[in-house]
Amino acid sequence: MTAASIATAAYLVATLLFILSLAGLSKHETARQGWTYGVVGMAVALAATIGPTVHDSSVRGTTVLVLATSIVVGGAIGLWRARIVRMTAMPELIAMLHSFVGLAAVLVGWASYIEVEHQGLGGFAGSLLRIHHAEVFIGIFIGAVTFTGSIVANLKLSAKIKSAPLVLPGKNILNLVSLFAFVILTVLFVIHPALWSIIAVTVIALLFGWHLVASIGGGDMPVVVSMLNSYSGWAAVASGFLLDNDLLIVTGALVGSSGAYLSYIMCKAMNRSFVSVIAGGFGIEAPGGGNDGEQGEHREVSVDETAALLAGASRVVITPGYGMAVAQAQYPVAELTRILRDRGVDVRFGIHPVAGRLPGHMNVLLAEAKVPYDIVLEMDEINDDFADTDVVLVIGANDTVNPAATEDPDSPIAGMPVLRVWEATNVVVFKRSMASGYAGVQNPLFFRENAAMLFGDAKTRGDEIVAVLGAVRAVPAFA
Ligand code: TAP
Repeated sequence: MTAASIATAAYLVATLLFILSLAGLSKHETARQGWTYGVVGMAVALAATIGPTVHDSSVRGTTVLVLATSIVVGGAIGLWRARIVRMTAMPELIAMLHSFVGLAAVLVGWASYIEVEHQGLGGFAGSLLRIHHAEVFIGIFIGAVTFTGSIVANLKLSAKIKSAPLVLPGKNILNLVSLFAFVILTVLFVIHPALWSIIAVTVIALLFGWHLVASIGGGDMPVVVSMLNSYSGWAAVASGFLLDNDLLIVTGALVGSSGAYLSYIMCKAMNRSFVSVIAGGFGIEAPGGGNDGEQGEHREVSVDETAALLAGASRVVITPGYGMAVAQAQYPVAELTRILRDRGVDVRFGIHPVAGRLPGHMNVLLAEAKVPYDIVLEMDEINDDFADTDVVLVIGANDTVNPAATEDPDSPIAGMPVLRVWEATNVVVFKRSMASGYAGVQNPLFFRENAAMLFGDAKTRGDEIVAVLGAVRAVPAFA
């Protein structure tokens, strides 16, 4: 068996492991197993890529050394970043990693162009050469869009630039002109490859990627992150064609298609048009202001009153949001759940698809605190049950439980499906102040008669409730 055929067989094994990994990651119960498949698949892929290089006498020793050093240094930086990153900063880290994939695709495209130019026609001729030129061009374009788009996403998510959409005059025309220029330049380059056209497409794509993501508002950033994930996959596919690497093509296609599907699911959850969002907010009108003024009196509730209310409840639903992640309140929340369930209370969780700051954010935190999977339900599974619920605990959530989304057509989040917590008998909102959430929108829930605010850090308040719960007796409902 030759080294090449061993590498091909190893690539096949790695591909299967990546597919099994994706399947595993789609469910709580199998997520760890899926992660293991992914790690093993990547180890096999790396070994299959480097192995033949080490044994190939035509490859210089310095090349192998550079390769090995890059893997060790890159791996060490990756491990260090993953260990220190806060869960709340995960989306911006992911956006930064996507920018690396985009940059790599641009560099591979340029290197491949220079190599072919250098060798003359080399191994390429006729229509094969044209296909190669098209691959170079498309790879550079997708890579450059991913690169600058991901940098803007990183800056917006880390609040280094404002998250409001950039609205340049004629922004849709600018996007369309860029795409048109790309098509024309591709045709010109395939017919007559020239350095100026490859420089032009790189510059246009860098500006286009920047503008595309800058035009998208903060509320749509979750979709943007998964969309850039998809773009980075397609950028890897382009690099795979240029490097003649089957595994890169297959892996890139898996990332590209799963990222696109995730974006589609999130758009559905937020009632946004998929095409509009991926086209940089194309056709989305600037939202109206909504009703941001005072909406009446809010009522405060104490730790003791909340504990007493829970002690008298039969059905409790907990809806966590970004504030639970900030406070790391999942541990007292899990402890509270255990205490209530031991007393025979039916406790369940309602998870909004975009709660927190990254897909599955709440599920990860609850799993970490060992909350049983079977009581963690998705929004669609629990929304009809709120009317039969005695107490809802809103733990650091805001936009995802905002009734304005369904009741105020002028609200910036109008049309976004939300958890209908206000249909329950009592709602206790854990947060530190009356401040708005990520979308910057006033929440009329806080002024409803059946709702009360439990101010303070969610973890501190959770710990206090856990401490007093045993001693309280039931009290009548708020309303
Ligand atoms: P948000 O609307 O962001 O509200 C979180 C609330 O948590 C804030 O109002 C804040 O109020 C409170 N909070 C912060 N720290 C706290 C602490 N230590 N203790 C108690 N409360 C605390 O949260 P959400 O309901 O989860 O909605 C998510 C939003 O983020 C959506 O608009 C979504 O579109 C957006 N987004 C989501 C993602 C993904 S993929 N999930 C990615 C990017 C953006 P106080 O300051 O008054 O405490």
